[in-house]
Amino acid sequence: MLSFALLSLLSLPFSFGEPIPQSICVLDCQSTQVYPPRSIPTGLSPVRRTTYTDVLLVHGRPTHQVCLAAPLPPIAGTAVITTSCEETSGNDWLTWNLTSGPGTITFEYEGVTWALQAASFDPNSLIDIFPLSSSASQSWILTSDNRIQLAGQNLCILGDTTPILQDCTATDGVETWIPTTP
Ligand SMILES: *[C@@H]1O[C@H](CO)[C@@H](O)[C@H](O)[C@H]1NC(C)=O
Repeated sequence: MLSFALLSLLSLPFSFGEPIPQSICVLDCQSTQVYPPRSIPTGLSPVRRTTYTDVLLVHGRPTHQVCLAAPLPPIAGTAVITTSCEETSGNDWLTWNLTSGPGTITFEYEGVTWALQAASFDPNSLIDIFPLSSSASQSWILTSDNRIQLAGQNLCILGDTTPILQDCTATDGVETWIPTTP
């Protein structure tokens, strides 16, 4: 019975923890490795069309701001966290490059480009780091209201000690990420 349940789970189109197949991207299936930024497909929600270099992604209310960070050294599949924007311990990486429109959110460490990657296309999924690839799970939009949206999905990065994906229509103000020069 148990193995039957497992088999049915495995036969779902996208099961937890599996790499997300390219075929499920609905709006933007182009390579994410194209530089400079490419044009935005029509039909997406408002997209801030700006490229950011080496910015903090500052999150939270003015009285309690934290920054998106990747624990160092980078290891594929490690979830990103939030930490003090003033952190100087060297335990975490805090600055990111964003490409315009649906694009990647990356940093470079010892010659490897690491990218934010959704662990799956489901609410409550973690956001991991993986080497840069053309996976749809590395394609993000910084919206005009400063949410980080998984391209083509109603999923945005909700900040917490360990950020997760949640419905983009939440209006409690805790989903915003402000690109900020350190
Ligand atoms: C981020 O942008 C800077 C400036 O263009 C560049 O030197 C660096 O290689 C970029 N890093 C990544 C991971 O793209």
